[in-house]
This record gives sequence, C-alpha cells and structure tokens, in this order.
Amino acid sequence: MNNSIKKSEGRLGVLIPGLGAVATTLIAGVEVLKKGLSLPVGSLSQMGTIRLGKRSEKRSPLIKDYVSLAGLDDLVFGGWDVYEDNVYEASVNAGVLAPDLLESIKPALEAIRPMKAVFDQTYVKNLAAANLKKGADKYAFAEALVQDIRDFKSERGCDRLVMIWCGSTEVYTEPADVHATVSAFEKGLRRSDPRISPSMIYAYAALKSGVPFANGAPNLTVDIPAMVEMAEANGLAISGKDLKTGQTMMKTILAPGLKARALGIKGWFSANMLGNRDGLVLSNPENFRTKEVSKLGVLEDILRPKENPALYGNLCHKTHISYYPPHGDNKESWDNIDIFGWLGYPMQIKINFLCRDSILAAPLVLDLILFTDLAQRAGMTGIQEWLSFYYKSPQVPEGRHPVNDIFRQLANLENTLRCMTGEGAVSAPVQAF
Ligand SMILES: NC(=O)c1ccc[n+]([C@@H]2O[C@H](COP(=O)([O-])OP(=O)(O)OC[C@H]3O[C@@H](n4cnc5c(N)ncnc54)[C@H](O)[C@@H]3O)[C@@H](O)[C@H]2O)c1
Repeated sequence: MNNSIKKSEGRLGVLIPGLGAVATTLIAGVEVLKKGLSLPVGSLSQMGTIRLGKRSEKRSPLIKDYVSLAGLDDLVFGGWDVYEDNVYEASVNAGVLAPDLLESIKPALEAIRPMKAVFDQTYVKNLAAANLKKGADKYAFAEALVQDIRDFKSERGCDRLVMIWCGSTEVYTEPADVHATVSAFEKGLRRSDPRISPSMIYAYAALKSGVPFANGAPNLTVDIPAMVEMAEANGLAISGKDLKTGQTMMKTILAPGLKARALGIKGWFSANMLGNRDGLVLSNPENFRTKEVSKLGVLEDILRPKENPALYGNLCHKTHISYYPPHGDNKESWDNIDIFGWLGYPMQIKINFLCRDSILAAPLVLDLILFTDLAQRAGMTGIQEWLSFYYKSPQVPEGRHPVNDIFRQLANLENTLRCMTGEGAVSAPVQAF
C-alpha cells in the first residue's frame, strides 16, 4: 500500500438524499451482507479482482483486499426524503426485496428515519411531498442541511462522511450564469434563484461541510462550474451522473464490440417499461428529458460518427421510457439494432432485457460510496473521472469528452487503483515488436 493513502479507520457515514428504491435496496442489502446471508453480486469493489504486475506473476487479488476500503460493518446510513416512511417501510413500498428477507433485518431498517427534505415541486412534478423543511430562502435551506450533516456526524460517531444523491430525477436544466462561480451561486441561494435545484442545495451543503459527493441521477447537481470550484477549493472528490444500469449498461458493452469488428450501425431503437416511483417521476416529459439527454450521449461517444461516417454517419438513435405500473421495479427493455456488414448487407440484433432496476443499481451505489471515500483519503480532489465506469453520463472537466466504453472505463478504474497504490498502470502491448 502507498503510505500517502490514509487507512480506512472508524465509521464512514453515508448520507443519501432520496431514500427510495435504489437507496433502500442498498441499505437493506448491506444489512443482509453483514449477517452473511448472501453475496454482494454486482459490486466490483467487493467481488472483483485486479491483475497486478506481469501476467506471468499470476497476482490477482480481490480489490477489497488490495486497497483499504471501508468495511461494510463500518457504514452508518442516514438520509432525507420527502416521505416520512422509515427505511423498512420504504423498502416494503419499493417492492424490490422479498418480504421475509426484509423482516429478518427489520429493526436495523426501522431505525433509519428520513430527515426533512429540501424539495421544490417545480423540479419533480409527480410527487406529493410531505416531509419538508421550512426556510426563508434557499440559503437557509442549505444552512439547515449543513446542520443536519453536523448533527448526524456527531450523534452517530462518524469519522468521515460521503453523500450520494439517490433522489428523483429533476427536470431538465442547463448550466446558467448563477451556476458559473461559487460567489454567483451563493448570491443565487440568497435570492432563491429558481435555477438552483434542490439537489444542488444538498451538494452545496455537502461540499461546504467537507463531505465528498456523488450523483446517481442525471440532473446537473455537481456538474456545474460552481461545484467544481468548491470541490477543488475544499479538497473534495465529486462525480456523476446517472447510474449506468440496465439498457445503457448493455449498450456500452455491445457498441464497443460492434465497433471493434468495424461493423456498421444504421439505427438503435431503445424502449423501456418501468413501473416504480422513478418511472412515475419520469413519466413527466420535463423529467424524462433529463434522462433522455443522459441516455443518448453514449453511442455518439463510442461510435464517433464524424471520425467514421461510412459506418456510423447516418446513425438514428431513439430512446423511450413508458411508465407501466404492473412491472414495478422489474424494468423491461427492448433494443432493436440495425447493423450492416460486408458489402453493406443488413442484419438485426434484438435484445429483451428483463432486469431489476434497483438490484443492478444498489451495488453501483455501494462501490461509489467506498471508492469516493478512498479517493478522499488518497487526496484526490475535484472530478473523479476514473469513476466514469458507474455512470451513464460521466462528468468530466470542461473541454474534455467523456469515455463511455465500459471496457475502457474499467481499464481506467483499475489503472487508477494500481497507480494509487504505487503498482504502475498495466498498458503494455501483449507482444513485443
Ligand atoms: N434504479 C436504477 O437502476 C437507476 C439507474 C440510474 C439512475 N437512477 C436514478 O436514481 C434515482 C433514484 O431512483 P429510485 O429508483 O430509487 O427512485 P425512487 O423514486 O424510488 O426514489 C427516489 C426518492 O427520492 C425522493 N426525493 C425526491 N426529491 C427529493 C428531495 N429533494 N429530497 C429528498 N428526497 C427526494 C423521493 O421521494 C423518492 O423516495 C432516480 O433519479 C433515478 O433516475 C436509478
């Protein structure tokens, strides 16, 4: 281990705005794992290995044995929600995990009650919020969150904190002058500028409190210059946006493969059916627009139509989400991919993925918590591009385009872990020439 990384010691507090399906599946899952009742499948930090040195050295430890990550027993969860349900009730409502499994960990889940939320109906249209803070302006809301963070840390005896947004997708917004600098943002908070969303207020409160922040949803949140400035000035790690699960995960697995074989792609039509609360929120067109933008970017980046117009120049990419309550959290996605091969002969690929949204998302949130805390202990501040692996629409420094190819993202993540610990990156060609 590199001595410059502080060891993980003591309790890591995990603060989550949005105790819905994803967050409660994570928290309940961690309780189940602590009892040794199941395996953390889907979590690279817990179940993935990392190859070290030359292949002939045959060194491939588990990542969790290789880097000093917080242990699951050291995690202390808390959060905010616009509903008053405790985490047990919210898990039952989410309908993701089996009732008897939830029953076996009920006391631990019941003990986590959401703090009153900072909420604005103009940003999430389809929720009937009840558990809300009162305040004179957005600055007062930020101060109230800072107080919550301070109280949580001292009352729960946490040594360090991480915040991750698992709240609903907010309506589509673009960066504006109020997001340009910390000073403009703070002035905007004081006059309750309508372009400052609730998720930005949580992020501001986290960064003001010395807490690193990750964003599991597609809203801008920390992807604005003011937050980048604040993260760098306060020496904090930030990352986002939008957890890469389901259909986009499949897309970023498949598209690099087709491109690697120099096969052409004429069209990619993606449809989803989703019946949980996330689906309800996304059934509002303005909220869906945020998700759509996040989903559409990946093929453009992977296929680079301008660099190879003959194969990808005419790509037609469409994506739809339909709210369909009978499916609950069990999202179903369809993809129709029109490809072409030798001499332009057309072919089709059809994918029907019957997935479970939060079962795919929860391990990503766990990894983001543990790796964000690791980055923080390693002194890595600002945008954590190496965590792009987890996101549909990775946040990158201005002027740089994101990497969406999941294999390049993984290589990046692994090389970052190797470099962090003084091993050196693995990138040499397999055959000398
Ligand atoms: N499930 C997945 O696979 C997946 C994948 C990628 C991204 N996401 C995103 O993650 C987020 C959470 O997804 P989910 O399935 O858990 O949704 P969910 O609707 O079950 O949970 C979101 C929770 O956030 C709460 N909330 C909304 N605004 C809030 C605020 N201002 N303060 C505090 N709480 C607030 C809601 O009341 C709700 O309980 C969504 O934005 C979703 O788009 C989910």
